[in-house]
Amino acid sequence: MKTTHRVVVGDSRALSDVADESVELVVTSPPYPMIEMWDDLFTDLDPAIGDALEAGDGQAAFEAMHAQLAAVWDELERVLVDGGIACINVGDATRSVDGSFRVYPNHARVLAAFEERGFEPLPDVLWRKPANSAAKFMGSGMIPPNAYVTLEHEYVLIFRKGGTRREFEPGADRRYEAAYFWEERNRWFSDVWTDVTGELQTLEAVDDDLRERSAAYPFEIPYRLICMYSTYGDTVLDPFWGTGTTTLAAMCAGRNSIGVELEDAFLEVFDDRIDEVPALSRSVGRARLERHRAFVERRQQEGNGFEYEADHYDTPVVTKMEQGLRLRDVRAIEACDDGYRVEHGTLTPE
Ligand SMILES: C[S@@+](CC[C@H](N)C(=O)[O-])C[C@H]1O[C@@H](n2cnc3c(N)ncnc32)[C@H](O)[C@@H]1O
Repeated sequence: MKTTHRVVVGDSRALSDVADESVELVVTSPPYPMIEMWDDLFTDLDPAIGDALEAGDGQAAFEAMHAQLAAVWDELERVLVDGGIACINVGDATRSVDGSFRVYPNHARVLAAFEERGFEPLPDVLWRKPANSAAKFMGSGMIPPNAYVTLEHEYVLIFRKGGTRREFEPGADRRYEAAYFWEERNRWFSDVWTDVTGELQTLEAVDDDLRERSAAYPFEIPYRLICMYSTYGDTVLDPFWGTGTTTLAAMCAGRNSIGVELEDAFLEVFDDRIDEVPALSRSVGRARLERHRAFVERRQQEGNGFEYEADHYDTPVVTKMEQGLRLRDVRAIEACDDGYRVEHGTLTPE
């Protein structure tokens, strides 16, 4: 199996390189409005944002930042197929502007923006960021009532374009081979992810400045979302590509991808690390198989049997739907003019 991964330096407010209805899944994390690290970027996109912040008008800055994101949401509406899914990772912001502290509810604004564009909101996911507990209550004191709760969670907001689900021909291989294990379903489709550890964080070698500027999300987030909401053969778009975690996850999951990013420095870093992807894809897939084996053992020890055997792996599975499950790994990567072409194989247990 082969996949392609396009990476474009550009502005996602106009995705001119991406055709109408050509993307099945969007997985992305925008710059978060009212988080200070993104002030300069938003001001570059609209200088009125810098003026509002300087004038101490937090609400006006918040609105204008969301207007910049809204131009990207318009484009997602255009490029997604009917029934396609958009997963938007976003956190709220707390901030004092002109001496007044408040929360800026980014998740609520993004939700409203997608609803305005006719997307159907689906149940969302909350995940907990690994936090530095010693520093998190700094300055909050021990006497009521003026301390504030520390925000340690982020949202993955999930939307479907249009009112209908995607349709497939009965028994479509690209869908059944992309199945996930029953016990993965139970973890992945729960609404609070407490087990996103960032363990598989994959961008160690970038310089500190670039890493700080990237605000990369843990690999597990796009990887799970891609496995949950797309099939083999699908294309996953990330319009706020950053360090390319979504593309990495798409390569490991055997899907096509498109990434769009304003800053070209991130592309060079990604290119320097591309040789590591085959090993990463194997370790991600084998970790899934090993966790499944551990689950099988636990379930058997509890006296529960299995009715089905997997077709491509020497293991029992709980449901008929899992039988055709076939994990892919990356065998070869070739750089091309606008990204990468990847050759995949069927992942073997070792
Ligand atoms: C929160 S970061 C994404 C991090 C990414 N998920 C990762 O794992 O590295 C947001 C990225 O969006 C980029 N960006 C912001 N506005 C953009 C726009 N209009 N078009 C393209 N990229 C944009 C920023 O440069 C930044 O790299």
